[in-house]
Amino acid sequence: MARLTWHGHATFTLETDTGKRVMFDPFLNDNPAADIQASAVADLDYILCSHGHSDHFADAISLAKRTHAMLVGTFELVAFAQSRGVHRGHGMNVGGGHRFDFGYVKLTPALHTGTIAGDDTGRYTSTPVGFWVDLGGKRLYHCGDSALTMDMQLLRGQVDVALLPIGDNFTMGPADAVRAVEFIQPRVVIPMHYNTWDLIAQDPQAFRAAVGDLAQVVILEPGGYYDF
Ligand code: NI
Ligand code: MN
Repeated sequence: MARLTWHGHATFTLETDTGKRVMFDPFLNDNPAADIQASAVADLDYILCSHGHSDHFADAISLAKRTHAMLVGTFELVAFAQSRGVHRGHGMNVGGGHRFDFGYVKLTPALHTGTIAGDDTGRYTSTPVGFWVDLGGKRLYHCGDSALTMDMQLLRGQVDVALLPIGDNFTMGPADAVRAVEFIQPRVVIPMHYNTWDLIAQDPQAFRAAVGDLAQVVILEPGGYYDF
């Protein structure tokens, strides 16, 4: 059984069948919706960052240094983290996949913008991505901060659990997220990137109603988890 715990916004911890701990987009200390502070994270094996905006990357460097987790993301994002003292990094690029000891990870296109929080020089460009993770037959898609794209149709039939933003303003909103569900046809969808601030306030129950029979919508509270 794999367990996926939501920490608010786009931050999740995945605990795999084999006991590996993988955190997506760590944003805890400055995240008003977070259930925990970064100091409460005891051990991590991997940190996957979709892009360099602070609401996805703010705690990545400090957590990678303290836990010795391997940071995975685009080549430039990982290079920036390594320039700030992160020792274990694995740079990739859009469309590329790599088999790690917890599963196979592929970077998927995400339509969004990108600077890297903390990069005062602007040397490290940041192309946002999402993550497609195959845990040996259980396939997870963390969409990152993407808009709705036609590319999402390429994931049809290849995703069991989809983590989709519904907040609007910075990412796709609920109506486009429903269309993403139509494109991807996951078994389960978990909404994210909403209710962190008033600007991205949404009603997840309304999203569930709009998805209807297309997929099972699992609504988590920060600290809540889904086993699959
Ligand atoms: Ni962003
Ligand atoms: Mn964001």
